[in-house]
Amino acid sequence: MSIPFSRMTSGSTTSNFSRRIWFTRSHRRRASCDSTGTGRTGRSNAAQNPARAIRPVRTFRSMDPPRCLEFRADTAQTSRSSSSPSSWTHRTRPLRGHQMNPTGPLAPDGGPGTLSGMPILARRLADLGTENAFKVNDDIQVCLDRGMDVIRFNIGAPDFRSAPHLNAVAVAELEAGNSGYCDAAGLPSFREAIARHVSATRGIDAGADQVVVTPGAKPPIGYTFQTYVDRGDEVVYPSPGFPIYESWATFVGARPVPLHLSEEKGFAFTADDLGALLTERTRLIILCSPSNPTGGVLSAEDLAGIAAVIRERCHPDVRIYSDEIYEHILFDGLEHQSIAWHAGMAERTVIASGHSKGFAMTGWRLGWAVLPTPEEADVFKNLNINIMSCVPPFLQEGGRAAYEDPETAGVVADMVGAFERRRDFIVPALNAIEGLSCRLPKGAFYVFPNVSGMCERLGVFEAHDAMPPKSRARTTPSGMLQMFLLYRYGVATMDRASFCRIGSEGQHFLRVSIANSMEDIERGVARIERAADDPDGFREFLATECLWD
Ligand SMILES: Cc1ncc(COP(=O)(O)O)c(C=O)c1O
Repeated sequence: MSIPFSRMTSGSTTSNFSRRIWFTRSHRRRASCDSTGTGRTGRSNAAQNPARAIRPVRTFRSMDPPRCLEFRADTAQTSRSSSSPSSWTHRTRPLRGHQMNPTGPLAPDGGPGTLSGMPILARRLADLGTENAFKVNDDIQVCLDRGMDVIRFNIGAPDFRSAPHLNAVAVAELEAGNSGYCDAAGLPSFREAIARHVSATRGIDAGADQVVVTPGAKPPIGYTFQTYVDRGDEVVYPSPGFPIYESWATFVGARPVPLHLSEEKGFAFTADDLGALLTERTRLIILCSPSNPTGGVLSAEDLAGIAAVIRERCHPDVRIYSDEIYEHILFDGLEHQSIAWHAGMAERTVIASGHSKGFAMTGWRLGWAVLPTPEEADVFKNLNINIMSCVPPFLQEGGRAAYEDPETAGVVADMVGAFERRRDFIVPALNAIEGLSCRLPKGAFYVFPNVSGMCERLGVFEAHDAMPPKSRARTTPSGMLQMFLLYRYGVATMDRASFCRIGSEGQHFLRVSIANSMEDIERGVARIERAADDPDGFREFLATECLWD
């Protein structure tokens, strides 16, 4: 059997998706902000040319690369010369500012060129991206510390609790002592339940030996890259899309090929759009429906066309990763559709989903993948063994009940109904704000308004254009708007660049999560409306918070 497993090598030197913008936190750094000695931070100067009137001091936290990675371009490539931490140097080439999480202690007074007190980091980390939905919490904390009330439209988790009947199963299992190691692929009974669920809803004949249980639906993304993709292989993925796709593509040294989802097509795409990106080097095609961040949904017809182009143009060893984590959250009576349903697709598709979204269990960390063959499932199992051994068995029992207890369906339907009512409120409310236009999502729990008009009204484009080229490259207009909304109006959103950045220039969107109470949604929309009419506030924000070089 020929299985297209990868011969992954470590590290890559190719990509750079820096998104820093240089800001200050005025509550801590007001003195340095006002004492530049240039006299350029005053409001009147800034009002004339806000971006030029200021200089770099700090970044907003969610946009920081790890400070230990802020080396000067001329930093020498050296090796560790002594075991004394103070004399460690970094075997680095120039690193170019990434959306990365620090992987170790930061240099205490880190900044460009600072080397002291840091661990030696592997070069490959420079190519690992991140998920800003987690990082923006740092900025939110700054706002909370200032005493602000923040509405969290950034959230990617249902504002519902996991269902009591499922909690009860996990608690009982834990109390009964089901708390040891278990099968690294997942409990056989849970895998059987998943296989039955997938077979029934995707029209295929999946066996438990094709299923691997993972801690959430995120690990199978990385497992897929590690299993199938070698350096230089091409990976097609939706953009805007879940940021972890692009992160892994660059991390394994693949060539990222974004499939741009256009607003006009309802954030879906056609077989022709996909076909135009396929080459003989395509190794992996990622699909995500319903989509994060757009809420777009691929119809059975779309998927039939996509399957036809894949059958026609791709070698059978090319794998499809079908991210179906929002499979339960569909509106307007739609039913979930999977590429796996279509002829010839099940044998090429890794279907991934889990309990985080549809069963409101994000903190349980329960996900799964159904692999095309048991042999491929064994590879995923071995990745589990290498990384985390197994998913806690008492949680898997709670997860199994989600599929087997008939009470679950009603709980899910109530939650989805609430999301749909919120969608029906927020989309017209956003469209009523001058400068915003918002499509009606068909699934998931996000809306994705186009904010070009709002950027225009506030002068964001001019401010962005006026930035020095380096700083301009590190941010985007929607990123500036995101920070303005958060720091001045207490509304946390996610910017376009947080959802796969490559080739996203000129696209101005924010993701707004409706996993919030109706009351908070109403308050948040009212704040956005006021912000849209506040160009003076935006100028003041630039002058007092944002310092660019
Ligand atoms: C499209 C998509 N895939 C995967 C995941 C990861 O899900 P989990 O929290 O189960 O790891 C998310 C979470 O936001 C997502 O939006």
